[in-house]
Amino acid sequence: MKNWTPDSWKTKKIKQGFPYEDQAELDEVLVKLKSLPPLVTSWEVETLKKELAMAAEGKAFLLQGGDCSETFAGCTSAQIASKLKILLKMSLILTYGCQKKIIRVGRFCGQYAKPRSKEWETRDGVTLPAYRGNMINHPEFSPEARRCDPKLLLDGYWHSAMTMNFIRGLVDGGFADMYHPELWDLDFLDLTQQNEDYKKFINTISDAIRFMEITVGRISDLKRTTFYCSHEGLHLDYEQAQTRLVPRRPQFYDLTAHMPWIGDRTRNIDGGHVEFFRGIANPVGMKVGPTMEPNELVDLIKILNPENEPGKVVLIHRFGANKIQDKLPQLIEAVKAANLSVVWTCDPMHGNTITTNAGVKTRYFEDILGELRLAFVIHHCEGTHLGGVHFELTGENVTECIGGSCGPTEEELGNDYQTDVDPRLNYEQSIEMCLQIAQYMNQARSHAKE
Ligand code: PEP
Ligand code: CO
Repeated sequence: MKNWTPDSWKTKKIKQGFPYEDQAELDEVLVKLKSLPPLVTSWEVETLKKELAMAAEGKAFLLQGGDCSETFAGCTSAQIASKLKILLKMSLILTYGCQKKIIRVGRFCGQYAKPRSKEWETRDGVTLPAYRGNMINHPEFSPEARRCDPKLLLDGYWHSAMTMNFIRGLVDGGFADMYHPELWDLDFLDLTQQNEDYKKFINTISDAIRFMEITVGRISDLKRTTFYCSHEGLHLDYEQAQTRLVPRRPQFYDLTAHMPWIGDRTRNIDGGHVEFFRGIANPVGMKVGPTMEPNELVDLIKILNPENEPGKVVLIHRFGANKIQDKLPQLIEAVKAANLSVVWTCDPMHGNTITTNAGVKTRYFEDILGELRLAFVIHHCEGTHLGGVHFELTGENVTECIGGSCGPTEEELGNDYQTDVDPRLNYEQSIEMCLQIAQYMNQARSHAKE
């Protein structure tokens, strides 16, 4: 890679930086982080890239999901197991819907640093730095809690390592309890308002899953079920500390995650994040929001993937249900005209965030599903593949997003609203979302055959 070193990003302008007070204290932490073993391996990263190359061609489908921001308190066996279960269940539903390999990528094992639209927060006339994620500072509103503390970077590493360790253990154990029939009870779905096709689809999929249980005992080759991990690569000192050459491979790998991504607020072409990401061998995600211009997107892809390597760049578009139709087609056309290989995926969460009159940050199930449906249709019309979806979700029954068959109303948001950052789909909303898109993909396949 030309004129690139793991620290060449430092010569560029950094957006969303972190105001540490004591450089020496930060440096000490970074020296330690550099000496610690990687969280993932280069061969896992290369395998993911190969699978993503299949998604670019429409032969595999990426399911990426997890919390907006992980918390250290959430690093418990119950919460980690529940994140895996929801992703696994969603992936089985999607497998049935699109009959393709599903690539599972969690927003976990490092999703501890957040970009914010406002650097400062004011309450009752007191102004403090914004909360930036557990790896940076604390959510409580006091000067001590909001101070950027370098030691939290190490805590972030330990919690990521413990999460990864437990995930690897669960996967090796084959998730035996996943296949208990009652775990597939879809009775919570209120089908009375739904059309006949959807009802039929739900019945077929329930039967299919039960059939797999009976015949295979444990669905397919679970021993080989893989979960990859991803997070927004926002804190470049943290990413750099774990970026290294590995034996017998000529490239640098960022071994904090299989697939780090660049956020919508830090994807500026002349910035430090794009500089860092252009030099690593990992597949890289890039959020694509409503301000992205077609030429800019083409230039960014060429910088991130100068060899046009398939599976290397994952575009995660996030416009909002009311903007996607306006924005996406021209971007697809520009990327097609430049002959660039990318995986197109849709994040239907971040363009659909609203604040209620009572001041609660939320998202409507219908807007999320609406943006996804449009994404499928637009890619179909443009002759490209929607190669994946990106959700903020949890396996718990929180009340953060509104709607779905039995999801909370606006008045019910307060019942169990837990997130300190963005609102997530809860267990039932996530399953229902997947059923809806699986049915859509299933229908699209039948039409294609006709
Ligand atoms: C996120 O994924 O949590 C996020 C902040 O997204 P975006 O960069 O798309 O706003
Ligand atoms: Co978010």
